[in-house]
Order: sequence, then structure tokens, then C-alpha cells
Amino acid sequence: MLCLILFCLLTSLTAELLVVAAKPSCQASADNPRDIVCTPGTSDYLLERGLVSDNNRTTRITLRACRITDVDFGSFSGLPALEYLDLSQNKIVYLKLGVLDEFTQLKFFNLSHNQLTGFPLGIFDQKPNMEVLDLKGNKITELELGIFDLMKKLRHVDVSSNALLGKEINSYIFDQSTKIKIMDFSRNDMSDSKSILLDAFEMLEFLNLDRCLLTEVPVFATKPNLKTMKHLILSTNKITRLDDRALFINLENLEILNLVDNAIEHIADKVFMSLKKLKSVLLRGNKLTQIPGSLFQHLPKLISVDLSHNLIEFVPVNAFRGSPVKNLNLSVNRFTYLTDNFCLELRNSGGGMTKFYFNQNPWQCACLRDILDEVKKFGIKYNGVGYDGRTPVCVISNDFNCRRQPDANANFVDLYYELIRKE
Ligand SMILES: *[C@@H]1O[C@H](CO)[C@@H](O)[C@H](O)[C@H]1NC(C)=O
Ligand SMILES: *[C@@H]1O[C@H](CO)[C@@H](O)[C@H](O)[C@H]1NC(C)=O
Ligand SMILES: *[C@@H]1O[C@H](CO)[C@@H](O)[C@H](O)[C@H]1NC(C)=O
Repeated sequence: MLCLILFCLLTSLTAELLVVAAKPSCQASADNPRDIVCTPGTSDYLLERGLVSDNNRTTRITLRACRITDVDFGSFSGLPALEYLDLSQNKIVYLKLGVLDEFTQLKFFNLSHNQLTGFPLGIFDQKPNMEVLDLKGNKITELELGIFDLMKKLRHVDVSSNALLGKEINSYIFDQSTKIKIMDFSRNDMSDSKSILLDAFEMLEFLNLDRCLLTEVPVFATKPNLKTMKHLILSTNKITRLDDRALFINLENLEILNLVDNAIEHIADKVFMSLKKLKSVLLRGNKLTQIPGSLFQHLPKLISVDLSHNLIEFVPVNAFRGSPVKNLNLSVNRFTYLTDNFCLELRNSGGGMTKFYFNQNPWQCACLRDILDEVKKFGIKYNGVGYDGRTPVCVISNDFNCRRQPDANANFVDLYYELIRKE
């Protein structure tokens, strides 16, 4: 009998919860009464006045994933102190002009992962203090000239994973946005963008152009006003060549250059020469067959070089002279040997190598033995997977001498792919 009563109680409770939960429920967080956090209801919701509005004290509102389809006028009335608004992961298709006008102190606005295709001009005009604007993962096709103009304090803009066409973005869109430090255009088509697109930037530090359908390093990303840039991502594009020696000449503060997963076949010698602050260059997953003889020379901060997953047949140890490289990744290439005393030479450049990866190359066994002896001697970390004496990892010549001549390569490479890595 007791059980029966309990059961009834439970069912009526759930029923009540269901009714109440049709719209999101919002509560002040325990440690900060000014921070309102909402959880979703059980159905889609048109945001309207009453849910989060009318509280002079509220500084933060989180309406993440609350099934909001639209925002009505008045939704944010009476929130004079609002600084942080998270509307991410909702289903908002359009924001009517004026719905955001009633609060002017906003600094952080997260609209990522909605279904916005664009904005009416003026939507952000009452936001003079905005610093962070996250528009990632919408369906934005167009940015109207002037849309950012009154947000003079913007420092972080994310428009990644939208449907922007760089060549159609107005060249003056960022004219007033001189303070942007972090800019993310990744996963849009930024090919053929205007070369002056970012000319107003005065303090850019991070630029993400991953998956932007680029066939070359875009001019807008290397202009003199971008000399403040520290981190440039150009990965997963279709760049084939870095031909111009002056390509990066302006980026004198660049620390990380990411060119992973392009189709780079050719790099001009000394193309990195002006990058005196460069710490890490990532060239993994390209089509390089050769490394120019002084490519990485005299870069006093260069610590990491990733050249794995290329087609490199010969690695000139001189290419690293004068650079303190500690981590070098040469895995999955096509060389059969390395220069005698390769690690010693690199150590002498001032690096003190600590990690060196050279596995999955068509090694001559004698040459592999030499390099293994060296890394063990110096206590350098390497990838020893497969070097157990049972897995075939290298090709043995008749006399078991390491033949360090380029013309010896071809035979060993053929044998290796025939016998070991059938590809
Ligand atoms: C908010 O502040 C305004 C002006 O200071 C005041 O008139 C209003 O009553 C306040 N509202 C609430 C809900 O405290
Ligand atoms: C915006 O919200 C998403 C989650 O909905 C989060 O992953 C992202 O980091 C937020 N953006 C910023 C700039 O904090
Ligand atoms: C070196 O490259 C291989 C293949 O891309 C990768 O698995 C490994 O994590 C890399 N190691 C380092 C230290 O970058």
C-alpha cells in the first residue's frame, strides 16, 4: 500500500515537472546572484520578456542550448548591468533590428551554433563595449558593411564555420575594428579575398584560416600592419607553393606557423628567414620532396619543426644550422639514410635535441642502426614502435654498410615499398 502511494506521488510530481519545464528555467548561480543560468525546457521556445529581463543586478546570462527559436522585443529589457550573454546552441534564424538595443554594457556575446544567415545593419550599434563576439557555426553568408563599426573595443571575433565567401566580403568591413587580437575565419571560403581586408588591424595576434579553400598564402594575411601576429594557422588548404622569399617578411613577431595538410611541393629557400621569433613551424602532411639547404637557418627561437608525412628524400642537416631545434619530426617520409652524425650536428647548432621522430621511412637498416645508436647515446626521445627486431622496418643491403648517396635511395625505396609498406 505504501508503495502504491509513493508511486502515485512520483507520477504526479513528474507530470508537474513536465508542465513547468515547457520553457527554460533560469536561476541565479549559487556563488553569484548576478549570474543567471538557464536550462532548457521540453519544447522550442520564443524568448520573451519575463524570463531573464528586468533585473538591475544581472551581469551574466547563460541561455545555452535552451531551444530558443526567436527573440522577441523586450526579452532583455531592464538589464542595465548585463555584460555577458551566451545564446549559443539555440535555433535562432534571425535577430530583429532592435531586440538587442536595451542593454549597452555588453562585453561578451556568444551566438555560436545557431542558424543565423546574416544580421540587419545596426543590430550591434548599441554595443560600444563589446569585446568578444562569437558567431561560429551559423549559416552566415554575408556581413553588411558597417555591422562592426560601433563596436570599437572588439578584440576577439569568431566567424568560423559559416558560409562566408571571402571574395564578397566588403574590403572595409573591419575599418573601425582596429583592436582585434583574435580573428577566426576558419571553415569559410576565403579564397580570392580582397588584399586590404585586414588593413585596419593594429594589434592582431592570432589569425585562423584553417579549411578556407586557399590555394596560396593570402596577401591579406601577411600585410605590414600584421607584424603583431604571433600565431598564423593556414592548415587544411590547397596551398602548393611558398615561392616568394619575401612572403612572410612582415610577420616579424610570428611564433607559430601552421601549414599542416596542404599540398606544398615547393618552398623557396630562406622564406622563413625574417621570422626571428618563430618557435614552431608545422609542415606535416604536405608534398615536399626536398628541403632547401638553408630553410630553417638562423632562427634563434626555433624549437619545433614538424616535417612528417611528406615525400622528403634527403634531409640536409645544414638546413637547421644556427637554430636551436629541440623537437624534429621526420616520420613518414622517403629517405633511406640521414647524414652521418645527424644528431650531433643538430646539437652543435645549439638545440640539444630532446625529441626526434624518424620512423616509417624506407630506411637502409645500416643507416637506421647508426641513427638509433646516436639517439640512444644522447638520450634523445624517439619513436621506437616496431623497432623490436621482429617487425620489418628497413631494407638490408648486401654489405650492411649505410650508403649515403642520393642515387642509392631509389633501390632501397622500391624494395621498402615492395616488401614492407605496400602502398
Ligand atoms: C532598476 O533601477 C531603476 C533606476 O535606478 C529603478 O527605477 C527600478 O525600479 C529598478 N528596478 C528594479 C527591478 O530593481
Ligand atoms: C561559445 O559557446 C560555445 C559552447 O556553446 C563554447 O564552446 C565557446 O567556447 C564559446 N565561445 C567563447 C568565445 O567563449
Ligand atoms: C610526429 O609525426 C607523427 C606522424 O605524423 C605523429 O604521429 C607524431 O605524434 C609526431 N610527433 C611529434 C612529437 O610531433
